Amino acid sequence: MNKLFIILLFLFAPFTTSSVPFEVCDEGPINITNLDFTPNPIVAGQDLTVNIEGSTQVEVQQGSTLTLATYEWLFPIHQTFDFCKMSINPPCPINIGDFNLNVTYPIPELAKKFDGKLVNLTLSNPDNTLLTCIEFTVHFA
Ligand SMILES: *[C@@H]1O[C@H](CO)[C@@H](O)[C@H](O)[C@H]1NC(C)=O
Ligand SMILES: *[C@@H]1O[C@H](CO)[C@@H](O)[C@H](O)[C@H]1NC(C)=O
Ligand SMILES: *[C@@H]1O[C@H](CO)[C@@H](O)[C@H](O)[C@H]1NC(C)=O
Repeated sequence: MNKLFIILLFLFAPFTTSSVPFEVCDEGPINITNLDFTPNPIVAGQDLTVNIEGSTQVEVQQGSTLTLATYEWLFPIHQTFDFCKMSINPPCPINIGDFNLNVTYPIPELAKKFDGKLVNLTLSNPDNTLLTCIEFTVHFA
C-alpha cells in the first residue's frame, strides 16, 4: 500500500465507522458523525428509532424541514416532514454544539419494497437553507 492510500483510508474512516454507513451528499452547518437504527435491520409496520450524533454550528429551530427522497423511478418518494413536530428526543431547538438525538417514526408496511435502496435525507432551515444532506441504504428484516 502506498502512503497516499493509507492517508485516504484514515480521512474516510469517520464515515465508515458509523453504525449505519452513510455518505454526505451536501455539506452544511451540521456534521453527522454517527447514525444508528433500532431495530436494525428496519422492521416494516413497527416504530423505528433513528439515533443521530453530530455537531451543529447553527440552532435547529421550529419550522425546520426533513425531506426523505428515494432515487426509484418506479416508486418515487419525496416526502417532507415538519422536523420539530416529529417524535424527537430531546426536542427542538437543537442548540449549537454537539448533539445526540433520537427520532422515532412509524415505518409503514409498504416501506418494505425499498429494501436495499438508497435513501436521501435532507434537513433544511425554516428559510429553506440546507443544514445537512446524507444518503444511506435501507435494509429491512
Ligand atoms: C437529495 O435530496 C435533496 C433535497 O430533496 C436534493 O436537493 C438533492 O439533489 C438530492 N440528491 C443528492 C445526490 O444530493
Ligand atoms: C464539519 O465540521 C467542520 C469543522 O467544524 C466544517 O468545516 C465542515 O464544513 C463541517 N461539515 C462537514 C460535512 O464536514
Ligand atoms: C436513543 O435511543 C437509544 C436506543 O433506543 C437509547 O439507548 C438512548 O438512550 C436514546 N437517547 C435519547 C437521547 O433519547
